[in-house]
Amino acid sequence: MKVLGVSGSPIKNSNTDRALKLALESTGLETEFIKLKDYTVEPCRACLGCVKTNKCVIKDDGIMLAEKTKEADALIVAGFAPYSSLDARTKAFIERLYPLRHIHGYMAGKPGGAIITCAVPSGSEMLPPACDFGVNAIKFYMMEEGMEFVGEVRIMGNVPCIKCGHGDECKMSGVKMLYGPDATVASVGVGTFEEQPESVAAAIKLGKGIADKLKSK
Ligand SMILES: Cc1cc2nc3c(=O)[nH]c(=O)nc-3n(C[C@H](O)[C@H](O)[C@H](O)COP(=O)(O)O)c2cc1C
Repeated sequence: MKVLGVSGSPIKNSNTDRALKLALESTGLETEFIKLKDYTVEPCRACLGCVKTNKCVIKDDGIMLAEKTKEADALIVAGFAPYSSLDARTKAFIERLYPLRHIHGYMAGKPGGAIITCAVPSGSEMLPPACDFGVNAIKFYMMEEGMEFVGEVRIMGNVPCIKCGHGDECKMSGVKMLYGPDATVASVGVGTFEEQPESVAAAIKLGKGIADKLKSK
């Protein structure tokens, strides 16, 4: 049994990547980690060229990645939430799984999970629920394909303004927008997945949950 993990985070060894790797490791099964930044995946053209062949007509890495997804017994999709939405790479990857749908429903019944890193502090009433939007984009894909959604992991990530160098002077800085007028780059600091016990526990639970589902089949 093989579990495929796909990360849309372009940052090297990011919070998203590390959470995904922990979830994969927690399955105790054979796994494969894919970093979408290493591949070229155009979004779906809605041409319906895949409906008879179950294969996309766009000649890029999306065909190979859809084939890997079809062969996997379970799928974990991990992304982040720029502008309160699922990042474009992860979204394009999901769209390119459309060829697996027609007639056969190749993903139906497979366990799946979602991992999202966002920068909006939990409980914020003034800002959009970025993590919810990201998780739901993945969850709804899985539901629409008849997959079994096992669980989700939410990670508090770093607004890029923490690392950009202008964070305390820039009038557009996300540091004050997210954490209030008195917040500074130093007071907020850089957050890591490993320092967030709830997220770590959720990643382990997701991996184990997927393994349990597969073993009970
Ligand atoms: C262009 C851009 C826009 C962003 N907008 C949001 C946003 O609207 N809401 C949010 O929660 N995070 C936003 N973020 C922050 C990302 O969620 C953050 O960079 C993410 O935690 C990085 O995850 P990673 O380290 O796993 O790659 C944005 C990031 C970028 C690069």
